[in-house]
Amino acid sequence: MEYNRITVTSALPYANGPLHIGHLAGAYLSADIYVRFQRMMGKDIVFICGSDEHGAAITLRAAKENLSPQEIIDKYHDLFKIAFDKMGVSFDIYHRTSSELHHETAQEFFKNLYDNGEFVEHESDQYYDVEAHQFLADRFIVGTCPKCGNTEAYGDQCEKCGSTLNPTDLINPKSVLSGSTPELRKTSHWYLPLDKYSEWLETWISSGELDGQVQHYPEEWKSHVIGQCKSWIEGGLQPRSMTRDLDWGVDVPKSIPGSDGKKLYVWMDAPIGYISATKQWAIDNGKDWKDYWQKEDTKLIHFIGKDNIVFHCIIFPAILKAHGEYILPYNVPANQFMNLEGRKISTSKNWAVWVNEYVEQFPEKIDELRYSMIKNMPELKDSEFTWKGYQEAVNNELVNNLSNFINRVLVLNKKYFDGIVPEFDDSYDIHGPEPEDAYSYFENELMRLHDGLQELAEFIRQFDFRSALRVLMELSTAGNQILQNNAPWKMYKEDEEAVKPVINLCLQYVAALSLAMRPFLPFSSDKLQSILNLEPISENGEWDDMMYKLCENEVLLSPGHEIGESLHLFTRIDDEVIENQISQLEQSQKESENNTTNTSHKPLKNEITFDDFAKLDLRTGTIIEAEKVPKADKLLKLTVDLGFEKRTVVSGIAEHYDPENIIGNRVTLLANLAPRKLRGIESQGMILMADRADGKLAFLGVDTEWPDGETIG
Ligand code: 2FM
Ligand code: ZN
Repeated sequence: MEYNRITVTSALPYANGPLHIGHLAGAYLSADIYVRFQRMMGKDIVFICGSDEHGAAITLRAAKENLSPQEIIDKYHDLFKIAFDKMGVSFDIYHRTSSELHHETAQEFFKNLYDNGEFVEHESDQYYDVEAHQFLADRFIVGTCPKCGNTEAYGDQCEKCGSTLNPTDLINPKSVLSGSTPELRKTSHWYLPLDKYSEWLETWISSGELDGQVQHYPEEWKSHVIGQCKSWIEGGLQPRSMTRDLDWGVDVPKSIPGSDGKKLYVWMDAPIGYISATKQWAIDNGKDWKDYWQKEDTKLIHFIGKDNIVFHCIIFPAILKAHGEYILPYNVPANQFMNLEGRKISTSKNWAVWVNEYVEQFPEKIDELRYSMIKNMPELKDSEFTWKGYQEAVNNELVNNLSNFINRVLVLNKKYFDGIVPEFDDSYDIHGPEPEDAYSYFENELMRLHDGLQELAEFIRQFDFRSALRVLMELSTAGNQILQNNAPWKMYKEDEEAVKPVINLCLQYVAALSLAMRPFLPFSSDKLQSILNLEPISENGEWDDMMYKLCENEVLLSPGHEIGESLHLFTRIDDEVIENQISQLEQSQKESENNTTNTSHKPLKNEITFDDFAKLDLRTGTIIEAEKVPKADKLLKLTVDLGFEKRTVVSGIAEHYDPENIIGNRVTLLANLAPRKLRGIESQGMILMADRADGKLAFLGVDTEWPDGETIG
């Protein structure tokens, strides 16, 4: 099959929080490299993205920030646009799923499936919040995980033990909206019977065949993507509900009976967002959107993070096939996750490098961030970003290698030839590998450059961007070696003519690098093009032209061409900058810890009767002695004075308090707790402590002059 067009999508980010480098590393930088390269190959390609503005992710955030969902999506949509633009992610359109065109498109799609009888209607019990008057999305229900006892598990997942859950699995479920206990009510939804599709999905994923035709090549897919899909299919696909009871989202079309109050499931709505965005782009650019979604000679490629694999490789293909007029993805080169300084990136814990902050702080260092992230891209396994690593990548590679090579060549050319690309006599040899056959040394070097570029291109085609970047730097190293081996600064005094082919060749390397760096380092490529006095790159077939020229032994910069003033493309990053970033990161993480510990509370325990409470004998007391319990890190042995008697109490507070600091503390003692032995010491009661969600403890002091031994109740 000959392919004539490529549709590239990057996962639509939820407009519910700022972008961090983990997002960039997942679905955006990789897509941008691929697209820029294909444009330079002269391909007909469209690069689609936009904000995902529906679903519980948005309403939950709105509730948290005390804003309306509309205010939330407007805020983050605008921030995303700025962040992507400043990072040089070159979407052809950045659309949004709240747009009218999207709502229409998604509804039409849904209606089509409904009319074709693709859905199965099914009634089930779902949690309803009587106080908030609404059915609760899975994420709006918290309770105790039946598997591990975590009291803050969500209706769809326990983040502590990783189990996938149903809301009805939770023990003691509570609504996030009102805190009340939700009740089960009957509700009806439309399901896509994924179980019926598992056979063709299995064949399609593992062999690439669809309806007897080869549609993709599984050997070109990443093995972790195929592995995840197979494990979903082997686990048994279940019918999946394509609608929800929500008040924020795309309405189920009114013409469908029972549509009242029903919205499209966000994972049906969002990927259709790729289609509606393409429609808008087609309107704006005089194209036919159908060519990009419905023609078999189009390659559809979804760039995503690994958490989206099932949606793009199973559910969305099932939706597209159920419709019948769409192509399925040719590849889904999902990335894994990028960690930060040894820990998982986390929005809620504020452990992240925020893209909007970076672009504001370092507007002149965008390519530096792109470079260090591509170098560490989590293509096949999770990877890690560290500020130290970023500094080393910039200083040792971008500055010492790439920038240094380019600058040396341009400065030498200025010095010896006034900035004009020198003519030369081909009979002069250049120190380098022996040429094959009838090639001159110069031609041989051009061929080597050509082969390097070819290798780089091949890696990009295979979605191996780390290797492609490595080859880019190897080309720069090769250029540096030509300079080093021929040492024109020595040669020049003896034979000016011999220097000309060397400088000319190095200039060809510089010109090639300027194009080759474009997919990775677009801003520096622009700068270099302008230094070289070349037309700005419009990403329209330039790579193809370059390869053609090199194949034909033609030069990229012609003799006589005048080059402008050189400047350093990259500059060193000082230790101070890095130390600042690390301390900023730790600082903001601490602040967020304080904020969350102040606001997040453990759920309430089950109700008790007054009689249950009256059984407790609580007394005021004073700690009069305290010492560590030998060989027990957590325990202190305390003597508590109750006025009428003294008690020995073993308390698990040694990690929080030094014994000498708590002598004299007023405390509340549960005095009638049955004695028990801890490390051989009988503990005669329990000191009550406030126990924060983050594990910190505090005494419940007695704020009076009252004597010890008074009752509390
Ligand atoms: O995981 C996410 O951030 C989702 N908003 C991705 C959606 S991708 C697509 F289907 F739109
Ligand atoms: Zn659990």
